[in-house]
Amino acid sequence: MQSRQHGRRSQLEPQPHDAKLMMGWLSEWWRGGTAAVEPASARDAARLAQLHGASFARGWGEGEFEIMLSERNTLVHRLRLGRETIGFAVSRIGADEAEILSVAVDPAYRGRGFSRTLLMTHLGHLAARGVRTIFLEVEENNQPARRLYDRAGFVVVGRRERYYKQANGEQLNAVLMRRDLSYH
Ligand SMILES: CC(C)(COP(=O)(O)OP(=O)(O)OC[C@H]1O[C@@H](n2cnc3c(N)ncnc32)[C@H](O)[C@@H]1OP(=O)(O)O)[C@@H](O)C(=O)NCCC(=O)NCCS
Repeated sequence: MQSRQHGRRSQLEPQPHDAKLMMGWLSEWWRGGTAAVEPASARDAARLAQLHGASFARGWGEGEFEIMLSERNTLVHRLRLGRETIGFAVSRIGADEAEILSVAVDPAYRGRGFSRTLLMTHLGHLAARGVRTIFLEVEENNQPARRLYDRAGFVVVGRRERYYKQANGEQLNAVLMRRDLSYH
């Protein structure tokens, strides 16, 4: 008589479901764990200033972050991986509109999709605050940022010539982007 085991797949054989789980673990391991997006507090000011300085020609200081973190109309989220803060997003809200002032990810963690998690969570919180339209300005040739915003549903609605002045005197164009948040 044939054993019942022969009629089905052995329990030890990898199942399609296990392969999917394994891929999930592997991708999470490669990314360095699960990222969390949380409201930032005054305690984060120094780290956020450090991250900003590593990302932009004119960095915002710790004092500037302290002020923004204390303002009711400014929304600041930190991106945390394990115990480390590796990014942030800052927006200023006015009535039912908001402007994204800055988004950055630690250079050591770029190119792994973290900015999308950060931005989408940030947008969700803006929607929860009653924001219906979001604007931002971004350097025309900043490809990672342009792709991030394109994929998040922002569209170009304007262009500003020679808007950003570099330390070397170079002047770079900006595009103005907009996204409407819909309610269901
Ligand atoms: C813009 C920034 C936040 C993106 O963060 P990130 O976590 O590295 O981005 P992601 O890995 O999520 O990639 C975002 C998109 O850019 C693409 N990308 C990443 N690096 C790229 C590069 N060097 N060149 C072109 N595209 C690139 C990714 O493929 C992805 O597009 P996709 O979803 O179509 O594949 C990060 O580069 C940064 O902090 N830059 C400095 C600050 C800045 O410019 N902020 C934006 C203006 S406020």
